[in-house]
Amino acid sequence: MHTGEQYHEFMLTSQRDRRVRDGFQKMALDLLPAGADVLDFGAGTGIDAKVYAARGHRTFVYEPSEAMRAHLAQYCHDEIERNAVIILSRPVIRKVQALTANFAVLNHFEDHASLFEGFSRVVDPGGFVLASMLSPFYLGDARHGWWRANLMNLVGSGHYPSPGESHIHRFAPRVVVRAAKPHFRLERLAPRGFGLATQLYMFLLFRRV
Ligand SMILES: C[S@@+](CC[C@H](N)C(=O)[O-])C[C@H]1O[C@@H](n2cnc3c(N)ncnc32)[C@H](O)[C@@H]1O
Repeated sequence: MHTGEQYHEFMLTSQRDRRVRDGFQKMALDLLPAGADVLDFGAGTGIDAKVYAARGHRTFVYEPSEAMRAHLAQYCHDEIERNAVIILSRPVIRKVQALTANFAVLNHFEDHASLFEGFSRVVDPGGFVLASMLSPFYLGDARHGWWRANLMNLVGSGHYPSPGESHIHRFAPRVVVRAAKPHFRLERLAPRGFGLATQLYMFLLFRRV
């Protein structure tokens, strides 16, 4: 188990994760209309929230882990003071134009249908959900027995649990796309094709219909 601070330091020093985060933030900021409100779902220690707030987006954050939330409150202290970052006690209580879920937050859920149903009550029509999820096809994990043991599950159901105590799951994009209907349609998947095997994270952009 890591504390919020350990997670925070790791994420800010890992070059690979920083590259992924920069790409995610750029996509979110390019898509957000000026001044639009955003909900960072599973906001962790507030690394993205601080950036969105600095770009003029009022940022609601929902984070269930107390350790993460405590660090977020410290890291985003000034933004919280001026109501640019607002901590929510429940995820679906504010209407926003966009919801972001960076770094595998949605991998913590087994049932995406009810999750996206909840998102549909938060995200305005025309708004979007942007999520980064672990690619289930990532060949970097092929050295692990659990990855090979789950190949048939991946081909069949498009879904398998990750090993250990992480309680996370990996999903083929099609499984998430199906669960997001009828409230959201997939607008962009990056990478596509063989890129899903060479990159650990995939970005899924859904538009609220
Ligand atoms: C790898 S961290 C990513 C944190 C943050 N989004 C970031 O970019 O650094 C995954 C986060 O998902 C959160 N999480 C786990 N279960 C969740 C749930 N049911 N609802 C919302 N967030 C959840 C965890 O507490 C954790 O902060």
